Amino acid sequence: MSVRRLAPDAVQPASFEFRGENVAWVEALIAKYPPGKQASAVIPMMMRAQEQDGWVTKAAIEWIAAKLGMAKIRVLEVATFYTQFLLAPVGSVAHVQVCGTTPCMLRGSDEILSICKSRIHLDPFHVSDDGKFSWEEVECLGACVNAPMVAVFKDTYEDLTPDSFNALLDGFASGNPPKPGPQNGRHGALPEGGATTLTDPELYKGAYLVNLLKQPTVAETPAAAVAEAPAPAPVAAEAATRAAAETQTKPAAKRVRKPKESGSDGGAAE
Ligand code: FES
Repeated sequence: MSVRRLAPDAVQPASFEFRGENVAWVEALIAKYPPGKQASAVIPMMMRAQEQDGWVTKAAIEWIAAKLGMAKIRVLEVATFYTQFLLAPVGSVAHVQVCGTTPCMLRGSDEILSICKSRIHLDPFHVSDDGKFSWEEVECLGACVNAPMVAVFKDTYEDLTPDSFNALLDGFASGNPPKPGPQNGRHGALPEGGATTLTDPELYKGAYLVNLLKQPTVAETPAAAVAEAPAPAPVAAEAATRAAAETQTKPAAKRVRKPKESGSDGGAAE
């Protein structure tokens, strides 16, 4: 975990305001909390500020602190603790978060990072020359089974290869990013090539439905069989009657006392 500080004053905007639909969204968010508990809105509010401006500015932190009646340092603590909050300007179309944790590393995240360094910037958190991209290495993003993977804002792109990652950057640059998820054609986290177990479609109809489907319907049952069928005895009453009869006919079990065994010392007391 690296030290996380606010961006230099030179890049900080002078002020912050929520704009457009975010204005009403913020008021509705705060109203969800009981009086005196508005500080609980700090994380979603700061995330909304990041979605609006691309990163969390010092002015946004101060604005949120004032709005929620919090000390500025409290909001700053939250902003610097969670790595999801970006504290410096990022690429205008994509800030690429590359997972570098063990499963992704074993599956080729080093190659993804090399492409970031050559195509975006040698160092993380630096915006590319065209202003469109930036990158950083992050810890596990929770899609290890589809390693290696990257996250771009709220979307993840998985099962990457150098070729598919280059295509991903090209897609963002041209305004036509690929569909999020696995980039090798597999569905979710299914095995590559499709499912290999539990492939019987009957399994997915539900056990209850399967049993129902095996029963003849009323329409299929012959009318004569229905008419002659004896009325079923109430199950509980039948069981109680049988239990009472067994109790009366069964002799009480005698307790058989086991004879004492005598040992070499003449036998121990029981
Ligand atoms: S290790 Fe990369 S997503 Fe978990």
